[in-house]
Parts: sequence; C-alpha cells; structure tokens
Amino acid sequence: MTKNIKACIFDLDGVLVDTAKYHYLAWRELANSMGFDFTEKQNERLKGVSRMASLEILLSIGKVEKSDAEKLQLAATKNSRYVSLIEKMTPDEVLPGVISFLDELKAKGIRIALGSASKNAPMILERTNIGHYFEAISDGNIISKAKPDPEVFLTAATLLGVEPQACLVFEDAEAGVEAAIAGGMSVVGVGDKLILHRADIIIENFVGQSVDFVLALLYDKY
Ligand code: BG6
Ligand code: MG
Repeated sequence: MTKNIKACIFDLDGVLVDTAKYHYLAWRELANSMGFDFTEKQNERLKGVSRMASLEILLSIGKVEKSDAEKLQLAATKNSRYVSLIEKMTPDEVLPGVISFLDELKAKGIRIALGSASKNAPMILERTNIGHYFEAISDGNIISKAKPDPEVFLTAATLLGVEPQACLVFEDAEAGVEAAIAGGMSVVGVGDKLILHRADIIIENFVGQSVDFVLALLYDKY
C-alpha cells in the first residue's frame, strides 16, 4: 500500500451504473421459462459473478440439471434478453455523483481504468457516454479468471502501466473486494457496509463525495 494513489480502477455494474436490475429481469425470465421463480434477494448472489457461474447458481436454486450444451444455450438466451435491455440505456443511467467524481480524478491527473467481469462493458460505456473517461478497459472479453481472482484488476494496472500498490479499486461486490485485496490494491467498497466490510473504506455512493475526501480517509488508515 502507498500514500500515493496514481490510478483508480472502477467496477462497472453496481458502481458506475445500475445494471443489476436488467441482469435480474433477464435471469428471472430464464428461471420462469424453466418453471421456477427467482427473487431479488437471490439475485444478490449473482452480483460480480461471471455469466456462466451465475447460470450455475440459478440452476442450483431451481434444482434443475442441464447438459453443458444446454447451459451454453441458456446463457446465450439470457444474454440476448439482457442486451435488448441495455441497448436502450441512456447517459441518465449513470449513477448520481459518478460524473463529477470522474471529472475530479481527471483534473487531478489520476489515471482511470475499468475492471469489470462483463463482456457487455463496451456497449454499456458507449450507451451511457462515459467511455471517454477510461484510459484502459479490462473486462470479460480479455480476462479468463473471474473475481475473486485479481486478474481483471491486475490487467487494468498493467494496461495503465501503474504498479498495483498505487491503484485504488471501487467495488460493490464482495468477490470484487477480495479480488482487489488479492491483487495488492487498496479498495473502496461502494454500498453495503456489512457485505463490503473487508474493504479499506466504504462509501454509500458517490453523491457529494470528493476525491480528496476519499483519499484522506484511505491515507488515514495507513
Ligand atoms: C458483472 C455483474 O459485472 O458482470 C454480474 O455484476 C454479471 O452480474 C457479470 O454476471 C458478467 O456480465 P455479462 O454482461 O458478461 O453477462
Ligand atoms: Mg459490481
């Protein structure tokens, strides 16, 4: 750890945009098509989890067994429904406070990267018009190991050319917080204090947050 953070790496779903509701809709439709229901509480278990691992959890909830070929087909069905929902996203769906936080980072010369498990990250960045903030994009299209493996964040750091110790990750999922810790990075949990208790610091969201305040909280810990 260092008191000189040079880069911030942002998770996408649940940190910058609220796509969990679209994932939930698409997974619930898939569950219903297989004859069982899927609650919002159960959907919490899928946050930060890769597409195929999410499907395995869904099938275990419904106590349904499928072949590998059927699983691929089910994941494709879920994804095309999900894509039909995120295609309609607009810049209004960027979570409150995010844009001013990104602007402040830019003004301070702190580098910005994305670290997301999603293969749909490029489309979401494009539809919400925030892609231009990111100097490096590490997402589900270029990584092979899902969080809590640190690969997605280490790849982002390598793409930026910044050492992991000087990177600060923003995450809303427990698996993502563990991934950042495993990568030797500092981590801000965004959301629930109980779920994210392993993060260095926790903020509820970006509303009214300033970069200086977040860094002061973090540096106070060391
Ligand atoms: C993560 C989401 O960011 O991406 C998960 O939190 C999702 O819910 C995962 O399963 C993979 O996303 P996609 O878009 O590639 O299916
Ligand atoms: Mg997330």
